[in-house]
Amino acid sequence: MKLVHSIAELQELLKGKEEIALVPTMGNLHDGHLALMKEARKHGKTVVTSIFVNRLQFGPNEDFDQYPRTLEEDCKKLEEQGIVDIVFAPSEKDMYPEPQTYTVRPDPQLADILEGYYRPGFFDGVCTVVCKLFSIVRPVSAMFGKKDYQQLKIIQKMVRQFGMPIKVVPVELQRNPQTGLALSSRNRYLDEKQLQEATFLYKTIVGVKNSLEAGALDIEGLEESAKKRLEEHGWKPDYVSVARQSDLLIPTREDLNQRVPLVVLAAAKIGTTRLIDNVEVFN
Ligand code: PAJ
Repeated sequence: MKLVHSIAELQELLKGKEEIALVPTMGNLHDGHLALMKEARKHGKTVVTSIFVNRLQFGPNEDFDQYPRTLEEDCKKLEEQGIVDIVFAPSEKDMYPEPQTYTVRPDPQLADILEGYYRPGFFDGVCTVVCKLFSIVRPVSAMFGKKDYQQLKIIQKMVRQFGMPIKVVPVELQRNPQTGLALSSRNRYLDEKQLQEATFLYKTIVGVKNSLEAGALDIEGLEESAKKRLEEHGWKPDYVSVARQSDLLIPTREDLNQRVPLVVLAAAKIGTTRLIDNVEVFN
């Protein structure tokens, strides 16, 4: 496994390499990330993972400075697992040598709802860095987790609309096998008590899923009562939303009757930590 810090070094290493599979990350790797890397092996001959905490996707009051940067630990984990060939951990200067004034603005219908509503500009930042990583690494395939469901949808649409010759591979959301808690780098902000409470977010959206699968039709009612339950448990929910898997729009009565594939998405704060989770419905 090689660790490189600059675009020039990376491109030197990649010379003559075909079929590169890319796993973009912000580091502080956990088993969720590792699942993407294992999948990458099936979709390319050379597996590259990028580790870069992308300033562009953090709002002014978000945790950019605090975000865990654990490159040494990450590399150790990757080396032990032997699942990637190259770790690309560029410096801020290398990725953004000048202010990034050219940016990618994703479809507002998809990007200004849910996460994008609560984190304005977030998906512009994500798309811009992913687009840049794609043009630096030139992969044939790129792995994205269903943990960030909306991100995955937005990247798929970006790739489709720009005709980028890249296969976007969705990877299942990985959970703690005992508790069901969605694995996330931000879980490390939680204390022992909050860690226990954190699984309630998953339980809540599973409750919504079960109601829908049992035939419930009042989506707004389900969303509201799920939020209320979270509040009663001391959470500050941003949203609990039922959406169509295909376009993340609100399902119609017709969709419910036909049991088209849906997803329940949620974002809520526990203490000062904001967590997101989702479960698919009618799969
Ligand atoms: P990051 O949060 O580090 O996540 C990197 C990738 O790992 C994303 O595709 C994310 O969906 C996936 N992932 C994280 N936790 C997961 C889990 N529990 N199960 C399955 N997949 C999981 O997402 C980002 O970084 C950034 O926005 C990035 C795409 C790298 C652009 O900066």
